[in-house]
Amino acid sequence: MPPTVLVTGGAGYIGSHTVLQLLLGGFRVVVVDNLYNSSETAVQRVKELAARFGGNLSFHKLDLRDGPALEKLFSSTRFDAVIHFAGLKAVGESVQKPLLYFDNNINGTITLLKVMANHGCKKLVFSSSATVYGWPKKVPCTEEFSLVAMNPYARTKLIAEEMCRDQYRADPEWKIILLRYFNPVGAHPSGYIGEDPRGIPNNLMPFVQQVAVGRQPALTVYGTDYSTKDGTGVRDYIHVVDLADGHIAALHKLDESGVGCEEYNLGTGKGTSVLEMVKAFEKASGKKIPLVMAGRRPGDAEIVYASTERAARELKWKAKYGIEEMCRDQWNWASKNPYGYGSPENNR
Ligand code: NAD
Ligand code: UFG
Repeated sequence: MPPTVLVTGGAGYIGSHTVLQLLLGGFRVVVVDNLYNSSETAVQRVKELAARFGGNLSFHKLDLRDGPALEKLFSSTRFDAVIHFAGLKAVGESVQKPLLYFDNNINGTITLLKVMANHGCKKLVFSSSATVYGWPKKVPCTEEFSLVAMNPYARTKLIAEEMCRDQYRADPEWKIILLRYFNPVGAHPSGYIGEDPRGIPNNLMPFVQQVAVGRQPALTVYGTDYSTKDGTGVRDYIHVVDLADGHIAALHKLDESGVGCEEYNLGTGKGTSVLEMVKAFEKASGKKIPLVMAGRRPGDAEIVYASTERAARELKWKAKYGIEEMCRDQWNWASKNPYGYGSPENNR
């Protein structure tokens, strides 16, 4: 019997790519998602992409805060491990609606941990974020850096990390891996699955993509006076398929002895500026991206990129793709699906 993994938020951007890699890696996968920020079409497409492994995937439309529904699921299936993606992630929205973020991200995680504990399922991989480093005083960010939350979204990640550390201290049979993602971009090379944000995108590459397909007139560049090579902000962009593979590496790590509650950065270790990213996308797509230069976005850090040493040493995982492949695959997805999983009429 292949190992069975529960994936919360598996219909979402990173979740759908990870589910595909899990299926191709021989895992059985059960996805739970309330489809708040995703479409069931993504799950269907993953099934198709997984070909003969597609039968190992099942989907339940379920809100993670629904304890009884989660209990029922755990009573009917024995899970070897859980990968927990489900959460809200828009920084600006979290500032406007902090209680929504605490309710969804914190209560969702508490419910999940409780139900896991009730059923003796003690292996967890959690989606954390480089946002827990706040505005880092130096780069690259190593996992030992002090942690700080600059907004309610970041606070939910920090609190969830602390809950995981506390749960492990209380019961050392738990094995937990906290993955701190840097900036996931790109799409599966098939162009069949990708990122499909609701409304106007907050993040750089989904916005660039919408400019390229004519859904937005121009990209606003937030900040041209940073102490960086060209004055624009620098980030560590990572191909979503590399990121997905990082989760498979983490699951294998959970089978090793001596694992407690561990933190790993998932990034490339390379910093790229906004203008460099735009240039790479223009090259990949053959489209001109009109720019509007503007002031800094409040709360934005200047330069953020990862130290990748711990993940390379302990997870035996390293990102393979560079920004050329990220932009190529992002454009492949965008040009084939200009309205994501929707349509111009039904534009989520
Ligand atoms: P996403 O919005 O595409 O996926 C999240 C999924 O969780 C969605 O399908 C959504 O419908 C589902 N969901 C949300 N709340 C739920 C609930 N209460 N019950 C059931 N399902 C629920 O986002 P993503 O980019 O794939 O991010 C996945 C995880 O990674 C999130 O936890 C996010 O905070 C984290 N993360 C993302 C980034 C990024 O830039 N994309 C960076 C760092 C960390
Ligand atoms: N940017 C623009 N114009 C835009 C959007 C972004 O110039 O329309 C710039 C930003 O100022 C920044 C860079 O592009 O310099 C990247 O911005 P993103 O919003 O794409 O990403 P962030 O690094 O700000 O934050 C993202 C997620 C966070 C997560 C963090 C680390 O939004 O939730 O990556 O993983 F914590």
